[in-house]
Amino acid sequence: MQARVIEEFGEPAVFETREIETPEPGPGEVRIAVAASSVNPVDYKIRRGDLPPFAPEFPAVLGCDVAGTVDAVGDGVTAFEPGDEVYGMPGGVTGSPGALAEYMVADAEAIAPAPESLSLTEAAALPVVALTAWEMLIDRASVDSEDDVLVYGGSGGVGHVGVQIVSAAGARVVATGSTEEKREIAKELGADATVDYTETSVEEYVESHTDGAGFDVVFDPIGDDHLQTAFEAVRPYGRVVTTESSSTQELEAMHLNALSLDVVLVILPILRDAWHARLGEELREIADLVDDGDLAPLLDERRHGFSEVEEAHRRLEEGDALGKIVLENDL
Ligand SMILES: NC(=O)c1ccc[n+]([C@@H]2O[C@H](COP(=O)([O-])OP(=O)(O)OC[C@H]3O[C@@H](n4cnc5c(N)ncnc54)[C@H](OP(=O)(O)O)[C@@H]3O)[C@@H](O)[C@H]2O)c1
Repeated sequence: MQARVIEEFGEPAVFETREIETPEPGPGEVRIAVAASSVNPVDYKIRRGDLPPFAPEFPAVLGCDVAGTVDAVGDGVTAFEPGDEVYGMPGGVTGSPGALAEYMVADAEAIAPAPESLSLTEAAALPVVALTAWEMLIDRASVDSEDDVLVYGGSGGVGHVGVQIVSAAGARVVATGSTEEKREIAKELGADATVDYTETSVEEYVESHTDGAGFDVVFDPIGDDHLQTAFEAVRPYGRVVTTESSSTQELEAMHLNALSLDVVLVILPILRDAWHARLGEELREIADLVDDGDLAPLLDERRHGFSEVEEAHRRLEEGDALGKIVLENDL
C-alpha cells in the first residue's frame, strides 16, 4: 500500500511517499480502509522528535486520528464487520502505525462506529480532541449543571469541543480567545461569555464572571502561563484539569486554596497497549452527543490531501488554522 512516512525527525519536508506492506489484522483487531485523518499538535511534535516516549519506529506512519471503513477483521472480533464506518485514535505512536496510509490496523475495542450525522472527513476531526475534552471534563472534573467552568482556548482543537461538552452538561461556560473572531466562534459553540485574556487580568475576569468567587472548574488545554493563571482563576476547593504539565509551576496557590489538579494523557492506552475499551466506550458517547446535535467539529476552511501533509503540519505549527485541519486520503 501507499503511505506517507518519515525516516527521520525534522521539518515537515521529512515526509515521503512509500510503498509499504499492507498490514494484516491480528486477533482482536480490524483493518480500516482509511478515508481521512486530521492534524493534532501531537503529530507535529512527534515528527519534530519532541516526544521521545511516543516516537514510532522508522519508517514511521504518523497520524493519530482516523475515520474510514472496516475492510477486514481479525479472529475474535464480533463488534465490527467489513463495510462498517468507524472512527478513533488507534495509532500514530510507538508500536502502532498511524493513519497516513491506505490502510491502518486498530484494536477493535479502541474504535467506535462513526457518528451517523457526519461525513468520514468530518468524523476524522474529532477523536483526539474529543476524547481529550471528554476525559478532562467528564472523567476527571465531573462537570455538572451547577458548575461555572472557564475554558482556555475556546476555539482551539481541544477547547472548541470543551465548550460544547460543558454547554451540553448544562453548566455555565466562560471561554477565552485571543481575537474577536475566536471569541465569536466560542460564543456560537455555546459559551455564555468570553474573555480576551490578552487585555483582561485574571482578577478582572474572575471578578466580572464569578463576583470574585472563582470558577468551579478551569479547563486548560494549553499549559505554561495558562496553568499558573488557572490556579488563580479557580475557587477554593476547585478543580483544574490540564493537558500540559511539562512546564515548571509554583504550586503554593494550589496548597493555599486546597485545589485539585488533573493531568490527562489521552494517548496512554495506545502507548501502553492497555485500557482500549475506555476509548471505544467514550467514542460511542461522543458519537451520541454529535448525533443528538450537541457537538460538531469546527473545521478549518481549507482541505488537504495526505499528499499535502507537509503543508497541513506547517499551518498548524504556525497557528495558521481556525478549526481542525482535516486530511483526506488521496493516496
Ligand atoms: N495530554 C493530552 O492528552 C493532550 C491531548 C490533546 C492535546 N494536547 C495538547 O494540548 C494543546 C492544545 O491542543 P489543540 O489541539 O487544542 O491545539 P490547537 O488547535 O492548536 O489550539 C491551541 C489553542 O491554544 C491557544 N494558544 C495559547 N497560546 C498559544 C500559543 N503560544 N501557540 C498556539 N496556541 C496558543 C490558542 O487560542 P488563543 O489564541 O485564543 O489563545 C489556540 O486556539 C497542545 O499542546 C497539544 O499537544 C494534549
